[in-house]
Amino acid sequence: MNNYKRTLVTTALPYANGPVHIGHLAGVYVPADIYVRYLRAKGEEVLLIGGSDEHGVPITIKAQKEGTTPQAIVDRYHAIIKSSFEEFGISFDIYSRTSSKVHHEMASEFFRKLFDAGKFVEKLSMQYYDEQAGQFLADRYITGTCPHCGNERAYGDQCEGCGTSLNAMDLIHPVSAITGNVPQLKETNHWYLPLDQYEDWLKQWILEEHKEWKGNVYGQCKSWLDNGLQARAVTRDLDWGIPVPIEGVEGKVLYVWFDAPIGYISATKDLTADWEKYWKDKDTRMIHFIGKDNIVFHCIIFPAMLKAEGTFILPDNVPANEFLNLEGDKISTSQNWAVWLHEYLEDFKGKQDVLRYVLTANAPETKDNDFTWKDFQARNNNELVAIYGNFVNRTLVLTHKYFGGMVPECGQMDEYDKQVVNEILAIVTRVASNLETFHFREALKECMNLARLGNKYLADTEPWKLIKTNEARVNTILNLSLQIVANLSTLTEPFMPFSAQKLREFLHIQPIAWKKMGADVLSAGHKLNEAGLLFDKIEDEEIQKQVARLESIKKLHIKPA
Ligand code: 2FM
Ligand code: ZN
Repeated sequence: MNNYKRTLVTTALPYANGPVHIGHLAGVYVPADIYVRYLRAKGEEVLLIGGSDEHGVPITIKAQKEGTTPQAIVDRYHAIIKSSFEEFGISFDIYSRTSSKVHHEMASEFFRKLFDAGKFVEKLSMQYYDEQAGQFLADRYITGTCPHCGNERAYGDQCEGCGTSLNAMDLIHPVSAITGNVPQLKETNHWYLPLDQYEDWLKQWILEEHKEWKGNVYGQCKSWLDNGLQARAVTRDLDWGIPVPIEGVEGKVLYVWFDAPIGYISATKDLTADWEKYWKDKDTRMIHFIGKDNIVFHCIIFPAMLKAEGTFILPDNVPANEFLNLEGDKISTSQNWAVWLHEYLEDFKGKQDVLRYVLTANAPETKDNDFTWKDFQARNNNELVAIYGNFVNRTLVLTHKYFGGMVPECGQMDEYDKQVVNEILAIVTRVASNLETFHFREALKECMNLARLGNKYLADTEPWKLIKTNEARVNTILNLSLQIVANLSTLTEPFMPFSAQKLREFLHIQPIAWKKMGADVLSAGHKLNEAGLLFDKIEDEEIQKQVARLESIKKLHIKPA
């Protein structure tokens, strides 16, 4: 869609059963935040919606393990997650939660509307039951061997080994995650969304009308649609969740993947009384930022729910990322193989932008990527410090030294200066077009190219040699260099908001409007503030400490021979 009045950006709601790690940040929250900050800088109307997913079996399992209640678990982790996102500058308009009253009401009403309109099919089926625990074994309460890849620890809803979405009945050698017993089969009734009835519509909508979606997203949708869709149960036999809003039904709740995406709607309602403008006006463009394991839910199941409901808009794009690995291995919460955001902040105080930079420069946009501490250090020291920070520092130090911190006049431009001006404009255009199309790595690379251009310009023109013989020429060189620095303060803001703010303070300027960018953003005579360093070197010892931590975790998990 090219013409729209506003954009609603949603981010996958993380389960509130543990803290968040670099994989979350790289896959979903940093790209969404970059995109939203860019739209805001352009003056567009945009909302960034987030919140915690507080239902589902992972939460009740965690509560059982710790001998506490699911509510205590979600209260604890919702607070930790929310604060990590704030610290990393993820600029949510609201960070809500699915245990809220507004969400319970919204999800119940949504279900009830579909139920009353006859959009569900009610079916009796045999499901696994743990006699000893006295409960049905929904989703993660059952584990077994994945029929696709042989992973012996696959869950009843998904195999984390190969990423396939499963049914409990698919598992080979199923075992109860509560008691370890082999479960029995017992009859139970549930409500199903007949996805098969939406197949033709989904094929048309995605495969024909959304060919522009990222290859990984489009490909996964195509494979689901080519295999044929089946009805999916939208209720579960559990006691934690939103009770099924049908008179006389007890001990059943809405399936977490039915209520969670409705959380985007309730969070918007939680934020503003004007929420319907974002959900029911066809001039709103909705974008879902998610990880690859959530593609089917956001591209097939939730759109089918929205279509069945009939009054809400559909997503315009779903720029899902692949996964980020850590030092060559899959990030694993249960094995503590992760870099936790709250721990990073203790060890690297004030260096949020460094992590945002590294995770974007190495984002898993088209394939799984690897985070290594060595690469983290190298990108900080060789790129942020040596290229970007160095250019800014040299320009500001020279301006303070030669002109008492005053922006000098731009005199007659020679051919080289004119080329530089053109290149600034070309880079601004390329950053924008990459951001518009969700190519965040490329956009960031272009920002760094501007800093590289600045360094080369200074190295080629050598103002420190000319100052004794041709001060007028130095005026022009430093004016142009300062224009580049000022452009960088706006261009880098979506990626590194903390250092962009610091840079604006050094420059003593307010944010520059995106459409004003170019070689004329700082006026001659404007007085700069005192400057400091934008980035500091990260020493080997700091990296060694992180590597040692991971090595000790690895040792704990090596199976004895
Ligand atoms: O995969 C997950 O972590 C889910 N909690 C994501 C939910 S996204 C949305 F639908 F709420
Ligand atoms: Zn598998």
